[in-house]
Amino acid sequence: MDIGAQEHVATRGTIGILGAGRVGTAIARLAVAAGYRVKIATSKPAADNALIIEIVTPGAEAVDAPEAADSDLVVVAVPLHKYKGVGADMLAGKVVIDAMNYWSVTDGDIADFEADDRSSSEVVAAHLSASRVVKSFNHIGYHEMEPDSAPTGTADRRALALAGDDTDAKEQVAAFIDALGFDVVDAGDLAAGRNYEPGTEVFNGRFNAGELSTKLRGSLVSA
Ligand SMILES: NC(=O)c1ccc[n+]([C@@H]2O[C@H](COP(=O)([O-])OP(=O)(O)OC[C@H]3O[C@@H](n4cnc5c(N)ncnc54)[C@H](OP(=O)(O)O)[C@@H]3O)[C@@H](O)[C@H]2O)c1
Repeated sequence: MDIGAQEHVATRGTIGILGAGRVGTAIARLAVAAGYRVKIATSKPAADNALIIEIVTPGAEAVDAPEAADSDLVVVAVPLHKYKGVGADMLAGKVVIDAMNYWSVTDGDIADFEADDRSSSEVVAAHLSASRVVKSFNHIGYHEMEPDSAPTGTADRRALALAGDDTDAKEQVAAFIDALGFDVVDAGDLAAGRNYEPGTEVFNGRFNAGELSTKLRGSLVSA
């Protein structure tokens, strides 16, 4: 690492990622490229992941989940049917980005979500009750994250929505999204996250900030 990169890391801070699958590793690569220190974990011990992390997300560190949770921002990218396996205690006081979706085709029917009118992120936030949860990164395919990322100010830059109940947490997540290469549109409170869940127009499309704002304004559930 050159000295410039070290300064960059110190400026950007630390990102923890729970889930080293398709989404977790794509976000990890973008975050490393943006100059963050990235710690990534699964439900398995760090040693089990070290080699694959070195190959798939060079520059990120394989750690145990509590160490990943001990970061400035924590991305949760595990299959939603496993969300209760993500320890609420270790994430207490943290800003948590919920990148997960409830999609019964892959998750199976989960009573927590089928029998609940809330957005999936509100259900997750009830589990992570001492965390500040912000929903984002759920409506972009993992395979689109790197090719669609672009520097701030790029014409027609792709935008990602965020939703949450805490303004400061949303500002922190917005800065992270921008650093990773996307414009940001505030969709409103966590309940408004349902406007870009699976099955919505936003979930199924690729939009710049103006287009995304328009789509979200036209959604049925407002903040
Ligand atoms: N695929 C996409 O394009 C896409 C895009 C946006 C959002 N999403 C959403 O993002 C979530 C993850 O999707 P994915 O496609 O990345 O899944 P995936 O490829 O199956 O990866 C899931 C990862 O989560 C880990 N994991 C499971 N339980 C864990 C726990 N308790 N703590 C830490 N890590 C745990 C798994 O490792 P171990 O089992 O070894 O622990 C694995 O590394 C889903 O909710 C999905 O709907 C997916």
